[in-house]
Amino acid sequence: MPDGHFDIYDLPPSFLDDPFPTYHHLRDRDPVHLNKDGTYFITRYEDVARVYRTKSMRSDKTEMYLRKFGEGPLFEQHTNSMLFSDPPKHTRIRKLVAYAFTPRAMLALENRVVELVDGLLDRCADAGGMDLIKDFAFALPVEVICVMLGIPPAQREPLQRWSNAILTPLEPVATPEMVAAGNQAVADFKIYLGELLADRRAHPERYGDDIMADLLAAEEDGDRLTETELIQNCIFLLNAGHETTTNLVGNGVNALLDFPDQLERLCEDPALIQTAIEEMLRFDSPLQIGNRGVAETIEIGGVTMPPGTQIMTSIGGANRDPAQFGDPDRLDIGRQPNRHVAFAAGIHACLGAPLARMEGRVAIGRLVSRFPKLRRDGEVVRGGRARFRGLMAMPVAV
Ligand code: HEM
Repeated sequence: MPDGHFDIYDLPPSFLDDPFPTYHHLRDRDPVHLNKDGTYFITRYEDVARVYRTKSMRSDKTEMYLRKFGEGPLFEQHTNSMLFSDPPKHTRIRKLVAYAFTPRAMLALENRVVELVDGLLDRCADAGGMDLIKDFAFALPVEVICVMLGIPPAQREPLQRWSNAILTPLEPVATPEMVAAGNQAVADFKIYLGELLADRRAHPERYGDDIMADLLAAEEDGDRLTETELIQNCIFLLNAGHETTTNLVGNGVNALLDFPDQLERLCEDPALIQTAIEEMLRFDSPLQIGNRGVAETIEIGGVTMPPGTQIMTSIGGANRDPAQFGDPDRLDIGRQPNRHVAFAAGIHACLGAPLARMEGRVAIGRLVSRFPKLRRDGEVVRGGRARFRGLMAMPVAV
């Protein structure tokens, strides 16, 4: 943002490479930035945290997505997910889906995650290196969600493609090609899950005690998820937990390689992995931008916003705010306190956070303890997106 001009709908490649100088500039000079379409982009920690904790804020995006996507499977998927719903609908679905994230379910998954991670690291050891994104950060979360949902290994191939096609239209600008690909992916995914559920019902003995079983059995005061809700939420869980976790692992390792003293510190004191993961979530947040709609007039940074105003919350900007975090551009794997908003806050705070933290801890912890000499070994390729911030490729040698 050299000339002081910031347009969320026309971001230069330099911003997508490194948005943090722009966020600092905005926070200092224009913390409640008015976008050209009348929405606001806010970058101060205090403001972002307040928006997330304001109960009257709206997450429903029916109008916005009707304009952006038109009617169709993509519109239905995104407007029915719990993330884009308000109470009481949100409260009901969240309670039922929370059955998938009990401490018991997380503990049972951890052994499986350790197995998966060690298998990927064995392959890396044999080859003397890997593409940290494709062979590790990408491979892990999709496997974990497939285990959770009971999707057999032979059927997992299209899931990454579907997930990517469904999420990409959520970027600030969605082209007609992105929307068409998103519609097709939702339609294909729905057919697939409908058949999987039918098979589970016909042959329960073929399936284990997985999280899909918890979702099928989830019941609150006699209320259960309908078949459509179940399918929509399975698609949502795959999307919510896939790319974000990939980006946690990819951005986290990238940050450690940028701060070799912190990599060394972690190798010497593996118990720091807990605070290290929090710091990675803060330092280069996997999900950089959120949205909320104003339902009751609110004043933010001296700007009065009437009902109907749309706000973009800069999670990436808030997490580098020097008013909240000392020396915010430095990775400090022992940082405490660290009240980052990488998982948002308030009623929509990430339901999968315990799973994401556990995957991050196991993946990065076991990677660095096994390969303390880990180093980059080729060109790092950025994902080139503003909302989902991550890498496409990072060859490493071990
Ligand atoms: C590092 C990885 C992750 C990050 C950074 C992340 C971030 C977020 C954020 C910021 C939100 C709130 C969005 C908003 O309200 O605008 C959210 C919501 C959510 N996340 Fe995550 N997430 C991660 C991993 C996961 C995983 C692994 C799952 C499950 C498989 C998951 C499931 C959910 C769900 C269900 C919600 C919706 C909660 C609600 O609307 O009440 N997330 N996540």
